[in-house]
Amino acid sequence: MRNLMNITDLSMEEIQSLITTAEDIIANPVKYRDACKYKKLATLFFEPSTRTRLSFEAAMYELGGSVIGFSEASSSSAAKGESVADTVRTVGCYADVIAMRHPKEGAPLVASRKAGVPVINAGDGGHNHPTQTLADLLTIWRKKKTFENLTIGLCGDLKFGRTVHSLVVAMARYAGVKFIFISPEELRIPRYILTDTLDPAGIPYEEVSSMEEAMPKLDVLYMTRVQRERFFNEADYIRLKDTYILTPDKLSNAREDLVIMHPLPRVNEISVAVDDDPRACYFEQVKNGKYMRMALILKLLEVNV
Ligand code: NCD
Repeated sequence: MRNLMNITDLSMEEIQSLITTAEDIIANPVKYRDACKYKKLATLFFEPSTRTRLSFEAAMYELGGSVIGFSEASSSSAAKGESVADTVRTVGCYADVIAMRHPKEGAPLVASRKAGVPVINAGDGGHNHPTQTLADLLTIWRKKKTFENLTIGLCGDLKFGRTVHSLVVAMARYAGVKFIFISPEELRIPRYILTDTLDPAGIPYEEVSSMEEAMPKLDVLYMTRVQRERFFNEADYIRLKDTYILTPDKLSNAREDLVIMHPLPRVNEISVAVDDDPRACYFEQVKNGKYMRMALILKLLEVNV
């Protein structure tokens, strides 16, 4: 039985095969519409979500399956003091696969040891978010047709942004990739990502504070929201929240084929005036998330279409 906790739980070959499946689903949706008939997905969301939860649910419905679950801890027995372990052991009696989001880092891992069915980490605190990375990878693939030799700028809250952590670890496996980390001093990428992943492999990266200076070098610009819910005090959040705002004029020296991404939700970090730029890919990313989640559910349930 397979779980998905970290993006590196999938080999590069497996990621490529999920992309092939997702592209086949896009081309031939009808072929997949009964693939998970009589199967159930449980979405256990102990933290707010729009895209992740609804795209998992849409994915399961489009595979002909059904969905159970809850979207806030207060409507589950967690509010009565039940442990994550007991909750998932229970849900594992009802569902064939579980997608779980939790504010505590490592909670889905604990769940995966007790559930008896595959568990997918749908975001754990400020740690990882591997299925957003699957959406991000399909977006990069469809735009660039390769993962190699890309310079990727990640901008904003690199400290608490779990989508950043998973994407960096995923992209670090491809040859010739370079990272430019654009953040205020207080929100730099966690040191463990540098010491555990980038430094041992000799992967080049820069840490800078100016988005404008990095812009002309970038193949991909990945904007992020400052993660208010992970701050210890509101004053720091208010001071840092608008450090980077991408506007059309800041793109004046960007490449013609830049891919502008954002995991969403956006607060202020990309002006709506950028949405009409052909390089803005964040709503395509949303669509791609559903297709990759469909491909992932098929894989974890070992369904061959
Ligand atoms: C992200 C998350 O939950 O980490 N959202 C998402 O799943 N697309 C990003 C965020 O909340 O800023």
